[in-house]
Amino acid sequence: MKVVLSGVKPSGIPTLGNYIGAIRNFARLQKEMKDHHFIFFVADLHAITVPHDVEELRKNIRAVAALYLACGLTTENASFFIQSEVPEHAEMCYVLQSVCYMGELERMTQYKDKARKQKSGIPVALFNYPTLMAADILLYDANYVPVGDDQKQHLELARNIAERFNNRYGETFVVPEALINKTGARIMNLQEPTKKMDKSESNNKGCIFLLESINSAKKKIKSAVTDSENKIQYHKTKKPGISNLMTIYSALTGLSNKEIEKKYASGSYGAFKTELAEIVGGEIAALQKRYNEIINSSDLDKILDDGRERAREIASKKLKEVYKKVGLTRR
Ligand code: TYM
Repeated sequence: MKVVLSGVKPSGIPTLGNYIGAIRNFARLQKEMKDHHFIFFVADLHAITVPHDVEELRKNIRAVAALYLACGLTTENASFFIQSEVPEHAEMCYVLQSVCYMGELERMTQYKDKARKQKSGIPVALFNYPTLMAADILLYDANYVPVGDDQKQHLELARNIAERFNNRYGETFVVPEALINKTGARIMNLQEPTKKMDKSESNNKGCIFLLESINSAKKKIKSAVTDSENKIQYHKTKKPGISNLMTIYSALTGLSNKEIEKKYASGSYGAFKTELAEIVGGEIAALQKRYNEIINSSDLDKILDDGRERAREIASKKLKEVYKKVGLTRR
């Protein structure tokens, strides 16, 4: 059975960007690819690569797990678990470090961006982040990895590591393929539409968090930065603000940019934003309702416990195979 795998880092409450670029997509794929096994995990080991509040992290881990289910993912053909509860991730990461090059990690744009923001002492774990991500994927022989545009480079590295390992030690890993949506793979910040919407930037007016109040989310859409032309037309570089809002509209309604342009040919930005605010508000309200039913339920713990057992079964076998391949066995 082919495997589809992805993860979300609990370094904050997921945003509308995470939802459109990734989680909503997972739900669609799960319906379309019923004969595949889906693996969704909370990438908590990744969250300690940047400064964090311990209590916040604890809360966010559970919140991300509940949000998966609130966003429509089901246990029917999927396992859900918390990354740090499956120690094979860290162990596999260590082995993969022996086939991953410093130069490769130094080229990662996300590392360069994050390292620039860190005032002092860049943790080794931040540098090594993409190797852990490769371990997450290769441990489960994942065929497909649905992600947003910002993870493309990390996926490319995971493919290179898999191929290099296979060449050096013999066929071991499946070389994974990224699944990146055409629409919504990079939702931009509502206040600075040339920057990615990012959950690590808390209290940001340009970022809609999936668990914030509906009113506040609507307000953020209504006060999103646009140009002064008042013409609803898609042009990513010349009109980044309105284009970003059109992308959100398109992803949530299924209308193409052309159809949106036609629909609002004589409309103002104000009217468009008001309608989009209603659409976003409605979508978030529905998932918050489900979230509130799930977050404190024992069902969530049962799902995560079962998921961990299933994940460990697969991961421990793969790790054993890898240890053997590299010579880490007594006989
Ligand atoms: P994370 O938590 O930053 O993001 C989770 C998913 O959301 C996508 N995404 C976006 N999509 C559209 N617009 C945006 N503004 C936006 N921001 C984020 C991301 O591309 C991602 O798909 N390293 C990963 C987590 C991870 C992982 C893995 C993913 C760890 N191991 C193995 C896949 C496979 C991360 O930090 O995602």
